[in-house]
Amino acid sequence: MLKQALVATLLLAALPVAADTPQQLIAGYAAQAASNQPGFVPSAERGRQLYMNRFALADKMPNCAACHTEKPVAPGTHVITGKAIQPLAPAANPERLTSSSKVEKWFKRNCSEVVGRECTAAEKADFLQFLANGG
Ligand code: HEC
Repeated sequence: MLKQALVATLLLAALPVAADTPQQLIAGYAAQAASNQPGFVPSAERGRQLYMNRFALADKMPNCAACHTEKPVAPGTHVITGKAIQPLAPAANPERLTSSSKVEKWFKRNCSEVVGRECTAAEKADFLQFLANGG
């Protein structure tokens, strides 16, 4: 019995991390942000500003909306490769914001390219709140 329990535990530990929910991801970033901004509360409005703001570092991708369109519930197009991008808002695409590693990977890449630096935990919480609210 004990051995079986141990094997089961090891098997569980080897499985990929369980799916996240948008609310869990937002709560995680908000908690990180609150560590240096006490009382931090995610704001969908600030998230919208980040999404729409024209950083204009790169001609082809001045802002997040360049690839994801002005409406995150709409399908987008990669401005460089021309490939289709599924909608970013979970309301239109239930697979969105269900994997912290995927979200981190794309924040890292897209913030570096568009904003010119990594996004802060506060910005990520705001951005995800904006998406979770349907954009
Ligand atoms: C050059 C095109 C492009 C731009 C500009 C862009 N993205 Fe993306 N983004 C992508 C692609 C490609 C994917 C991943 C493909 C997919 O999952 O459909 C993606 C995925 C994401 C995801 C993953 C969501 C999930 O749960 O699957 C997040 C978060 C994201 N982008 C945020 C941003 C933010 C924030 C900005 C602006 C700072 C931005 N993106 C600008 C192309 C872009």
